[in-house]
Amino acid sequence: MLRRPRRNRKSEVIRNMVEETRLSVKDFILPLFLLDGKNQQIEVNSMPGIYRFSTDLLLKEIETCMNLGIRAFDIFPAYPESKKDKTATESFNPDTFYLKAIESVKKYFPEACVMTDVAMDPYSSDGHDGLVLDGKILNDETLEILGKMAIAQAQAGADILGPSDMMDGRVGYIRTVLDEHGYKDVSIMSYTAKYASAFYNPFRDALDSAPKAGDKKTYQMDPANAKEALIEAELDYQEGADFLMVKPALAYLDIIKLLKDNHTLPIAAYNVSGEYAMIKASAANGWLDGERAMLESLLSIKRAGASVILSYFAKEFAYLQQQSQ
Ligand code: PBG
Repeated sequence: MLRRPRRNRKSEVIRNMVEETRLSVKDFILPLFLLDGKNQQIEVNSMPGIYRFSTDLLLKEIETCMNLGIRAFDIFPAYPESKKDKTATESFNPDTFYLKAIESVKKYFPEACVMTDVAMDPYSSDGHDGLVLDGKILNDETLEILGKMAIAQAQAGADILGPSDMMDGRVGYIRTVLDEHGYKDVSIMSYTAKYASAFYNPFRDALDSAPKAGDKKTYQMDPANAKEALIEAELDYQEGADFLMVKPALAYLDIIKLLKDNHTLPIAAYNVSGEYAMIKASAANGWLDGERAMLESLLSIKRAGASVILSYFAKEFAYLQQQSQ
């Protein structure tokens, strides 16, 4: 036997030498949930260890994460039903707590990278990402609202905007509006291939943002499709996206790889709420070693081709990494 691959696995030192994929705290964006008010920290039931913070405590959380080396944050606001309406007007109210929080984060941590979500769902009384008329989710009519939202977020200091509604023409429209208003340096991370997935439920619990009627299948992608992701990626590229995102991550590693192999833009993957919840739930039952399952999942996302990973595990990963140094 001339070829014995096991020789390269015989000791930890050698295994480390031949390791093809390495995770770093620099790979991560940590999603954070924001609440109105002061001194609030409420755990998300279906996401043990993940909280909704009011701005004051969110700033503390960000400071802790920055000290662990996590420097990018995707902030999602949880609005009470009373602030929601059919046209998501609260999303571009300059005094709304979400925009104020973005300003504070950038004021106290100018070196932090803040990402925001450009979609109607947290502010919509219909719980959909776009305007709803007679049960239909409107495409073009929603653009003006998204444009106002994007400008408001850029003005508050967001570094990266994440158009996440999976409808047509968003990236190009938002890029044009940003440029017209002088926000040429604000980046766009497009939710390029976002699937109509069962894995978003804990997120919708966290924000109380589930659709009131129907589902998101006329805008989010069918889990059966891969080639369609290439169409979306091509459009996002042409429309000026800076990053292409795949979401969820673990059931779509092939899509991450497909975009990686066919595009030169950096690929991001969103390791979503349900993927977090699955590991936490089985670890709590003693059915899996949660730490190892987390590391293996994150590694697989990077190995598939994602250079940016949005994950609720980011802080835990960074903490482990720091302990092992
Ligand atoms: C909404 C949005 C969703 C997520 C991020 N942005 C939910 C949805 O599309 O219903 C899900 C993230 C997660 O599950 O962690 N625009």
